[in-house]
Amino acid sequence: MLINRLISSAIKVKLPKMSRPFLPLFLEGVVIKGFGRGSKELGCPTANYPLSVVKSLPEQIETGVYYGFAKIGEGPVYKMVANIGWCPFYQNKEMSIETHVIHYTGPDFYGDYLKIALVGYLRAEMNFDSVEKLIETINQDIANAIKFLDYPDAQKLVNHKFFFPSQLGEH
Ligand SMILES: Cc1cc2nc3c(=O)[nH]c(=O)nc-3n(C[C@H](O)[C@H](O)[C@H](O)COP(=O)(O)O)c2cc1C
Repeated sequence: MLINRLISSAIKVKLPKMSRPFLPLFLEGVVIKGFGRGSKELGCPTANYPLSVVKSLPEQIETGVYYGFAKIGEGPVYKMVANIGWCPFYQNKEMSIETHVIHYTGPDFYGDYLKIALVGYLRAEMNFDSVEKLIETINQDIANAIKFLDYPDAQKLVNHKFFFPSQLGEH
């Protein structure tokens, strides 16, 4: 018994705490143009939401990097990573929600409707002394997201009614 308790507290200490009381969080809106640095400088295109969506965030939201799922228009559900905050590296004046849709290789989708489900929290926003370090960290976030989103608890959200409202009432 004691051994079990020791093991379970050791696991608790080791595992990052990715859940938050306000998760999963569902956000939706039309994609607007950001500064365009995501694709040009970072090789990581990001979709921006208008301020109205940013203002709809719950009060307890923590700024930082989240992983979850995304759906562009009526397209398939993809894995995603999203940064919520002020991007200290670029010192943005406005808070933003920037979503990188993992494995999406299609054209820009400004003006399209984007739905995202934030599933887990990865880390706080950081500043970096080079753009290369920011890129390296984002790539690590993407690798972590791909892995964590395969866990059964996360997979449950792929078919959520938020993404497929017309299936309401079926089953
Ligand atoms: C997964 C992910 C993690 C990010 N982490 C940080 C970060 O720690 N610090 C930061 O300043 N910006 C971070 N960013 C935000 C990028 O700086 C931002 O996407 C970039 O400024 C491009 O924005 P733009 O396309 O609107 O120009 C992150 C973006 C993503 C997609």
